[in-house]
Amino acid sequence: MKADELRKKYIEFFVSKNHAQISGASLIPENDPTVLFTTAGMHPLVPYLLGQEHPSGKRLVDYQKCIRTGDIDAVGDPHHLTFFEMLGNWSLGDYFKKEAIEYSYEFLTTVLNIDPKKLSVTVFMGDDEVPRDETSASVWKSLGIPEERIYYLPREDNWWGPAGETGPCGPDSEMFIDTGRPSCSAECRPGCSCGKYFEIWNDVFMGYTKHSDGTYSQMERQCVDTGMGIERTIAVLQGKDSVYQTEIFTPLLALIGKLSNKTYGDDEDVDKSMRIIADHARTSVFILGDQRGVSPSNVGQGYILRRLIRRAVRHAKKLNIEGKFLSSLALLVIDMYKDTYNELEQKRDFICEELEQEEEKFSTTLQKGEHEFDKLLVNLLKGNSRVLSGRIVFKLYDTFGFPIELTQELAKEHGFSVDLKGFEEAFIKHQELSRSTAGQFKGGLADHSDLTTALHTATHLLHQALRTVLGDHVGQKGSNITPERLRFDFTHHQPMSEEEIRKVEGIVNDVIERDLPVSFKTMSIEEAKEEGAIAFFESKYGELVKVYSVGDFSKEVCGGPHVEHTGSMGKFTIVKEQSSSAGVRRIKATLS
Ligand code: ALA
Repeated sequence: MKADELRKKYIEFFVSKNHAQISGASLIPENDPTVLFTTAGMHPLVPYLLGQEHPSGKRLVDYQKCIRTGDIDAVGDPHHLTFFEMLGNWSLGDYFKKEAIEYSYEFLTTVLNIDPKKLSVTVFMGDDEVPRDETSASVWKSLGIPEERIYYLPREDNWWGPAGETGPCGPDSEMFIDTGRPSCSAECRPGCSCGKYFEIWNDVFMGYTKHSDGTYSQMERQCVDTGMGIERTIAVLQGKDSVYQTEIFTPLLALIGKLSNKTYGDDEDVDKSMRIIADHARTSVFILGDQRGVSPSNVGQGYILRRLIRRAVRHAKKLNIEGKFLSSLALLVIDMYKDTYNELEQKRDFICEELEQEEEKFSTTLQKGEHEFDKLLVNLLKGNSRVLSGRIVFKLYDTFGFPIELTQELAKEHGFSVDLKGFEEAFIKHQELSRSTAGQFKGGLADHSDLTTALHTATHLLHQALRTVLGDHVGQKGSNITPERLRFDFTHHQPMSEEEIRKVEGIVNDVIERDLPVSFKTMSIEEAKEEGAIAFFESKYGELVKVYSVGDFSKEVCGGPHVEHTGSMGKFTIVKEQSSSAGVRRIKATLS
């Protein structure tokens, strides 16, 4: 079964079980400063898992673009991916373990036609806080999975979430396909990394919330969150050992082969570079082509994008690929996914231009690095040592993005060797530093504290006020909220005058003073547009959305949350108005 068919069958199956299909969200979480990318299907649904009502009901199904950047440097082996698609179905306080497992079993065995004999499952073994999951085990048994293929595993294996530091989580039950390979050892079991067992689906029973002090409490409603990775699942359905052998990657690898005059599968080192190029090119296309897409930069999502592009370029150089190559790969990715993710088609030119620009920039950096290397050499030749220190090698790597292999090659030509161990030490030290920086992104999910809620409402007021003062061409391009401030990017072609800024500020403060009520109505996206609500993200035809109104002042499609009355928001101040990118302005504002 191919990816497109799996996506379709999954949705059809759960729609037939009374689930409403909803649109997946942007890869870049909105109003959530604590994570860089959407990492799971449940991520955009956190407020609903925590108790808010979802406009589409209690049973949902979708496919979601996800990026996990935990370990970009692990990409290159046959299994890791940075971008993947997750299929998921949810029960928001509706069905629980029994139905969830029964649906999973039915889908696996009757739609995917997986032989039940090849299925192994795991359930939570229990600990001091949460009891052993006998319920799930007995449901599996009732479906015919024998005891010896039901594994009770500890928290590190069978507990999922929260996605950040706080939020919904719970014990899970995971499904594995036995690939038929021999066990690697007597201890080999689902979850073992030898490859015998291939995980394809995870049913999470979200009955708990983790708090910032590390304690857990039971949620009022019990929810189900499931996740099936499309790439992994089709690999196992197609009997392939690796996601890179499926139709998602073979065209990319073939093109990389053509550009480099090499064949995938001939040489492990070459294969590794090819996988890196293919994965990173694909992920870069999805970041650039997202509805909230960003350009390469030195911060946040833009920085990850830059790293991906540069790593791809470095590996392309290793394979002797000449000239710019990324946009040719991008076009393949866009064609492959344009029917599923329209935004890629809409952003085709932007994607290719940005990739080419970054490739060009990096070539310059590479040249500068070579120049730096020559300068270093002059000094080094004056001394006695013929070893390039780890510190220098790391500087070339870190500052100039200089591939270690290239440094080694150049060093060798001049009779030098490279202190690899010193380089590794410098590298690990740096990783530890950047991990602690990355830590901030792993923090809790959206902080829906009072302050961020008020800033979110302020964003709506600002948006409408900008349209009133500057015109209807103003549209939201991005939004980011921290407890300290809101940031709002919008289309407008020139700097705002001081007068315009004060006017906008005045309008917002006026609405705050009028203490207007904030309310929402649920309606189809078409009705919302008819009512004149501002809507930025495409939704499926007929899909139900929430439309938030602030008195008679603003009306916008949004998931919430918002304050109940504007009077509680405080004083609104625009602290900065600046350029964000071509044709896009950025405002930072506070409430005090
Ligand atoms: N949220 C769960 C996962 O990502 C389903 O595995």
